[in-house]
Amino acid sequence: MKRGLWMNGQWQMTDEFMEVQAPYSKEVIAQFAMATEQDVQYAIESAQAAASEMAALTAFQRAEILEHLSRLFLENREEAASIISLESAKPLKYAYAEIDRTIETYKFAAEEAKRLSGEMIPMDASKNGEGRFAYTIREPIGVIAAITPFNFPQNLVAHKVGPALAAGNTIVLKPATQTALSAHFLAKLLAQTNLPAGAFNLVTGQGKLVGDVFLAHPNVKMITFTGSPAVGISLRNRAGLKKVTLELGSNAGVIVDEGVQLDQMMDRIVMGAFSNQGQVCISLQRIYVMESMLQAFLEKLSAKVAQLIIGDPLDQTTDIAMMISEAEQQRALQWIKEAAAEGAKIITGGHIENNVLLPTVLSNVSSHSRVSCEEIFAPVVIVNSVSTIEEAIEAVNDSHYGLQAGIFTPSIETAFKASKALHVGGVLINDVPTYRVDHMPYGGVKESGTGREGIKYAIEEMTEMKLVIWNNN
Ligand code: SIN
Repeated sequence: MKRGLWMNGQWQMTDEFMEVQAPYSKEVIAQFAMATEQDVQYAIESAQAAASEMAALTAFQRAEILEHLSRLFLENREEAASIISLESAKPLKYAYAEIDRTIETYKFAAEEAKRLSGEMIPMDASKNGEGRFAYTIREPIGVIAAITPFNFPQNLVAHKVGPALAAGNTIVLKPATQTALSAHFLAKLLAQTNLPAGAFNLVTGQGKLVGDVFLAHPNVKMITFTGSPAVGISLRNRAGLKKVTLELGSNAGVIVDEGVQLDQMMDRIVMGAFSNQGQVCISLQRIYVMESMLQAFLEKLSAKVAQLIIGDPLDQTTDIAMMISEAEQQRALQWIKEAAAEGAKIITGGHIENNVLLPTVLSNVSSHSRVSCEEIFAPVVIVNSVSTIEEAIEAVNDSHYGLQAGIFTPSIETAFKASKALHVGGVLINDVPTYRVDHMPYGGVKESGTGREGIKYAIEEMTEMKLVIWNNN
C-alpha cells in the first residue's frame, strides 16, 4: 500500500504518507510518500547527475528507449487502463482510449528523437556574411520539472516525459496525488528500459512545496505545467529565466451553422461535452446554435444524453461516472444552481444521483454566469441561440480563455472566416474543440497558456538552439 519516491533509479521511502481513495468505490488504493524539500532537491540533483549521460545518448538509443516504453504500455494495456479508471473514476472505455493514445505518444516521441535537426543558414545573404557557412543544432536543456493533472494521468505525463527524453533531457515528475498510481506504473515500466538511472524521477506530495523547490533550484532549467491558470500564472511569474510551458484551462465553444446535419454531429457533441465527465481542458462547454435550429438541436441532444449509461467507472459499458471528488461535484452543482437563478433553463440533468453529477444541458445562459465564463471542468454544457455567425464568433471569443474552438458549417466561406476570427490555439472545422491527436500542436492563447505541446512542438520548447558559424575566408 505504501508507495515511495522514485529517485536516482531507486524507490525511496519517507516518514509521511498521504492516503488516496478511489473516487467512486471509496476504497483506499494507496498511501503516497509526502516528499520533503530535501527529497525534491535530491530528485533534482539525481536528474542533474544523469544529464550528461542522457545528453550523450545517440538519437538511436533515445528512440529505442521510447519505443521499448511504448511496447511495454501495449503489453500492459489492461492493467494501465484499470489503474486510471480506479484512481480517477474515468470510465474504463475512456481509460483504454487514453492508454492507446499513450502508446502512440511514446511512439511519436521515439520518431521525433530521430528527427531532431537544425537548419543551414545562408550566411552570404548578408553583405558581411560572405565566405561563412553556418548551421543550427538543437541541444537538450538539462533538467526539466513537470507538474501534471489528474484528468489524463498517463497521456498528459507522456506529453512531458516523451519529448523531454526524446531530446536528451532528464526529468523530475510531480503528478497529481490522486492519480499518482499511474505515475508509479510508468516508473516501473521505465525501469525495464535502458534509460540511465536518474534520467526520470518521480516525487509525490504537497504541490506547493514541490513547486517551490522546482522554482528555487538553479539546476531546473524548465518547468512544464498542465493545470489551473492560477497556479500556472503564479509559476510563470516566479520562474525567472527558467523556460515555462503552460497548458491551462478553457471553456471551449462550438458554433452550429444553418444547413448542417444535426444527426451526423450529435455523437461528437455528446463525446465533446461529456467524455471523462467533462474534465478535459478542451471539453465542449459552450454551444452557439443558429436560432432557427435551436429547438431541434436541444431535442436531439437530450435524446442522446438520455442514452448515456451512468455508473461504475470500472464497468466496460459505463459512459459517465462520478467526477474526481465529491467536493468538485458540489462545486459544479453550485454553478448550475447559480446559472438557473440567473435565468438559465435546465434542459436535462442538473442534479446528483447515486453519487454522480448527471450530464447536464443548460440553455438561455447568461454570458456572466460562471457555467459560461469560467471553466466548469464537469459534465455540463450550455446551448444558446445566436442570430448570425458574427454574433456566434463574438460569443466564442468573449472568454479569457482560448485553447480550441469548433464550427460546424456547410459553407467554405464561413469556415475560412471563422478560422481567421476565432482567437484560440486551434480551430476545428466540422468538429468539436475536444478533438486531439498527439502529434498535432496543442496549446492556447490568452489564459489558456503559453507554448505548445505535441511531441515535435514540445521538443522545440525543451531544447536550446545553438548556432555554429565556420569562417572560410
Ligand atoms: C487536456 O485536458 O489538456 C488534454 C486533452 C487531451 O489530451 O485530449
